[in-house]
Parts: sequence; structure tokens; C-alpha cells
Amino acid sequence: MKKIVMTVALATIASTSLADVKPFEAVEYRKGIFKAVKWQFGPIADMVKGKQDFNAEEMASRATNLAALSKMPLDGFRAGTYARATSALPVIEEKWDEFAGLMGKFETNTAALAEAAQSGDLKQIKPAFIQVAKTCKSCHDQYKD
Ligand code: HEC
Repeated sequence: MKKIVMTVALATIASTSLADVKPFEAVEYRKGIFKAVKWQFGPIADMVKGKQDFNAEEMASRATNLAALSKMPLDGFRAGTYARATSALPVIEEKWDEFAGLMGKFETNTAALAEAAQSGDLKQIKPAFIQVAKTCKSCHDQYKD
């Protein structure tokens, strides 16, 4: 009996988590990831620009976090989630392959920054940082309000 109850409970959890994503949940999810992206990226930018003292350990840790986060937003850009409470433009749906491609570039460039950050050398970190910053901007210019 216990086993049956358990199986039913697990099946319920699995089906609600996969099938019933509400549009606002997808919007909240991707915005939350980008809030975390900003949280990590802010001090990286400040260290590169000399607004915050350079700390190699903090730089490496934040760059690693950023690279991990870069893999997460795409999942939240679901069909039919561009009408309400979002600054994501509906053109994302029309140009999905290009948008997804740019997200792939974001992953590659943040991975390169994380790699450069391991050196602890600001001279190597700076160009990698610039590539990441350019990726943020080019995507926002095209796909964000
Ligand atoms: C491939 C596209 C893409 C890339 C790359 C990208 N963003 Fe975004 N970003 C978006 C879109 C689209 C939104 C709007 C999400 C929404 O409102 O549903 C957004 C939203 C945001 C937000 C607002 C989150 C909120 O509070 O609602 C911040 C902050 C942000 N991005 C920062 C960054 C930073 C910093 C980078 C680079 C390190 C970056 N983004 C890279 C597409 C991108």
C-alpha cells in the first residue's frame, strides 16, 4: 500500500513539474537568472574597470558562476511568454535559431572568461570580459525592450 501511494505521489510531482509551466513562471525564471547574472557580472566589471580592488580569487569564483548561469536562461524562453510582465521581445519566437545561437555565444564567451580568470592576470581577463559585455549588449539591443 505504502509503495503504491509513493509511486502515485512521485508520478504527480513529475507530471506537474514538466507539463504545467505557466507563462509567468517561465518569465520569473528567466528574469531571476538574469538578476543572478547581473549580481555576478557587476563586481567583475567593477574590478576590470578599477572601481573595485582586483581580487583574483573573487574574480575566478564569479566568472565560474557566470559561466554556469549562462547555460540557464534559454530554458525559460518558452513559446507564448512574450505578452505580459516581460521585457523580452516577441521577435525571439520568430528568430529563435538566431536567438539561441547568441545564447550559445554567451556560453562560449563566459566559459572563456572563466578560463582567463584562472590566470589571475587582469591583462588576460580584460579582453575576455569585453567579449562577454559585447554579447550582453548585442542581445539586449535586438531582443530586449
Ligand atoms: C542571448 C540574449 C541575452 C544575453 C546574451 C544576455 N541577456 Fe540579459 N536579457 C535578455 C532578455 C531577452 C531579457 C528580458 C527577460 C524578460 O524580461 O523576460 C534580459 C534581461 C536582463 C536583465 C533584467 C532582469 C530583470 O530584473 O528583469 C538583466 C539585469 C540582464 N538581462 C543582464 C544581462 C547581462 C549583465 C548580460 C551579460 C553578462 C546579459 N544580460 C546577457 C537577453 C540576453
